[in-house]
Amino acid sequence: MRTIDLILKKKQGLELTKEEINFFINSVMDKSMPDYQISAFLMAVCFQGMSDLETSYLTEAIVKSGSFVEQSKLPKGVLDKHSTGGVGDKITLTLTPLLAASGIPCLKLSGRALGHTGGTIDKLESIPGFNTDCKIDDMIEQVKKINLAIGAQTKGLTPADGILYALRDVTGTVDNVSLIASSVISKKIASGAENIVLDVKCGKGAFMKDPQDAVHLAKLMVQIGKHLGRKVIAVITSMDEPLGRAVGNSLEVIEACEFLKGHYKEGEVYELTYELAILTLLQYGICTDRDAARRNIDELITSGKAIEKFKELVKAQGGLAEALDNYSKLPTAGQKVEIKSEKDGFVENIDAYKVALGCKLLGAGRETKADKIDLSVGVYLNKKSGERVNKGEVLYTIYSNDDNKTAQCKELCNKAYEIAQEEPLKKPLIYEIVQ
Ligand code: URA
Repeated sequence: MRTIDLILKKKQGLELTKEEINFFINSVMDKSMPDYQISAFLMAVCFQGMSDLETSYLTEAIVKSGSFVEQSKLPKGVLDKHSTGGVGDKITLTLTPLLAASGIPCLKLSGRALGHTGGTIDKLESIPGFNTDCKIDDMIEQVKKINLAIGAQTKGLTPADGILYALRDVTGTVDNVSLIASSVISKKIASGAENIVLDVKCGKGAFMKDPQDAVHLAKLMVQIGKHLGRKVIAVITSMDEPLGRAVGNSLEVIEACEFLKGHYKEGEVYELTYELAILTLLQYGICTDRDAARRNIDELITSGKAIEKFKELVKAQGGLAEALDNYSKLPTAGQKVEIKSEKDGFVENIDAYKVALGCKLLGAGRETKADKIDLSVGVYLNKKSGERVNKGEVLYTIYSNDDNKTAQCKELCNKAYEIAQEEPLKKPLIYEIVQ
């Protein structure tokens, strides 16, 4: 078998066999396939797609590229949560401490920023000292002690995904249902998760722009996960507009802390964290109905148990827990530029993709694999859809370290905001639940 033949076969839209997919992953792992051939193959997949069968072969091949955690080594019922990638998506930081505080063991393998979207690992690394490069055995011990560990994909688990993920990020080959499904599910299988909660993003700021693709992705991941013996729920949620108000690594950590301290009683971070937590508490049988689950979550937040669990996580992974109260200890941008509205009206829409590109220009994301990102920069959306704004009021704030980049970001964010005269109808955040 030759790697060039796999590229040609996929370019023609033909279905690859299990042996061919295994050969592809083996060639990635033994480095006999150089980056340019891997990238050409990934691009062919983006144009021609993969069947569901090819996707499940690819998932299994990625799992087998490294070691995997035996479920018997883990606490019973361990949970992993994953989002398919969004803008301002800090739900891992709000949901997992909450669930861990409710008694559910959470072991989460996360990624870095991908394409225009942010990554949980980069966000956590904005907490001084926080170590994401954990050995899986240490993560398991940590989960046994405090119910929670969040680490980057380790070298041992799904190493093939690590290689493909980094290449996809910089070759425009992220937004494909099969590549996303295999990347997400392989990590969950390898880390031994018994229960998997998936947040499938759909809309302008998601990789899946089209609702039909999002439904396909959700169903495919649920099907592959169940076939491999896991309990999976997928929730399809809107990503037309950034999730919450903060976009950018340390800014998002602050927003997550504010939620966990009970300072929000509405908004998307509140709504989505509650919905995913309610579904999980019901699935685990910890609560028998939605009202009881909601009361349980309220109590975890108002008692301080949720934020304490986040601090415990930070301490356990070597981070400065004090930074979750004293935000000046987090990376802070040199400039804070408030952009004011030029007219009266209502915010009708904020294009998540444009805001994401603006943040990437500031340095919040990578252009090449080797780029270092600036953890302090980003955009804070003072006004969100449905809110009234008067001429001269602050629409959004840019946190930056460079005048030119601030100007470029402003141009994009101004295009992202649509102001209308009429109050817009509230758009749903949660579209569908697949289980
Ligand atoms: N998250 C992942 O882990 N992989 C993807 O491809 C997209 C989101």
